[in-house]
Amino acid sequence: MQIRPFGPDDGAAVDAHVEVVNAARALDAPWLPPVTRHEVAGELRFGWDLEPPTAYLACADGVPVATGGLHTSERDNRHLAWLEVQVHPGHRRRGHGSALLAALTEAARERGRTTLGTDGWDAEAPRAFAARHGFEEVAVQVQRRQLLGELDWEALDRRYAAALPHAAAYTLERRAGRSPDGELEPLARLTAAINDAPTDGLDVEDEVYTAERIRDYETAQLARGHEIHRVLARHRESGALAGHTVVVVDGERPQLGEQHDTAVAAGHRGHRLGLLLKLEMVRWLREARPGLVQVDTWNAESNDHMVGVNVELGYRIVGRELDFQRRLG
Ligand SMILES: CC(C)(COP(=O)(O)OP(=O)(O)OC[C@H]1O[C@@H](n2cnc3c(N)ncnc32)[C@H](O)[C@@H]1OP(=O)(O)O)[C@@H](O)C(=O)NCCC(=O)NCCS
Repeated sequence: MQIRPFGPDDGAAVDAHVEVVNAARALDAPWLPPVTRHEVAGELRFGWDLEPPTAYLACADGVPVATGGLHTSERDNRHLAWLEVQVHPGHRRRGHGSALLAALTEAARERGRTTLGTDGWDAEAPRAFAARHGFEEVAVQVQRRQLLGELDWEALDRRYAAALPHAAAYTLERRAGRSPDGELEPLARLTAAINDAPTDGLDVEDEVYTAERIRDYETAQLARGHEIHRVLARHRESGALAGHTVVVVDGERPQLGEQHDTAVAAGHRGHRLGLLLKLEMVRWLREARPGLVQVDTWNAESNDHMVGVNVELGYRIVGRELDFQRRLG
């Protein structure tokens, strides 16, 4: 078995990774669209916010059998490494997953990390594999999908009209693409409100947001070909940013949208801004993105407030993902 890291310019390795991931998805998570070379290369080049993961390819007798990823941040959570292991369904139960996990664990140790995390869909193999390697289940994330063609727009309009009077002190603004430099600092403070979302049993610290990180996030998303849509709630009197929500649409496959952060700053909660921001977003997307078919979102299963808003917006569960962690001794 050979295991080696690879980067976005290694076309053969990217192709092998795409093949392994798509074979695994077809079995483990058939609701997910297949990954593309463009998407994989973009993630390996730019990551979420210019801290790209390192990918690993595992081959047995020259045949790609598994693929892995190592995610670490220097901005916060410097104790943590998040590991991804996916084994081609035709090559499971032969120890490849364990060998790749051991290599990723070693790479995490070399980066000085003391806590490991990994995740898998809620099924027997990931549960047993994680337990076998000393990981404990610490949180559950749920993936939901909104199908724009199936939404009851009249009901959503009524929800919008009913919520608006509660938010009379605020305006909603639509912003496509980059944020202006002058607003990056307040946007960083607002983005940090995501730290109030439940983390259940996860051993994680608050994430640290700076103006530069917001800029890096927008740079990475745009460079990957993702079109950024941000709706902001602004307090009329003070001009302060009170809340935001972001959806990116895949430029390569404009039928696919992904929900990124939604947050309302602590001092501005209780005015239906969470609901209004997301309603405003879907109204905007319907007008501006007629080819958009679906928007996917991920939430902690325990995040009752955000999940409640999403259910009102027609999001339905498609997958349940388990987060596992262990200490690295
Ligand atoms: C989970 C996964 C990585 C396991 O890969 P693998 O190469 O089959 O794993 P290994 O052969 O190294 O298995 C090691 C041990 O894990 C456990 N295990 C793995 N798959 C299992 C299954 N389907 N049922 C029960 N136990 C299983 C067993 O204890 C196994 O040892 P054994 O074969 O001697 O009984 C693979 O099924 C996969 O890629 N799943 C989809 C992606 C994913 O969920 N990854 C994250 C896992 S936390």
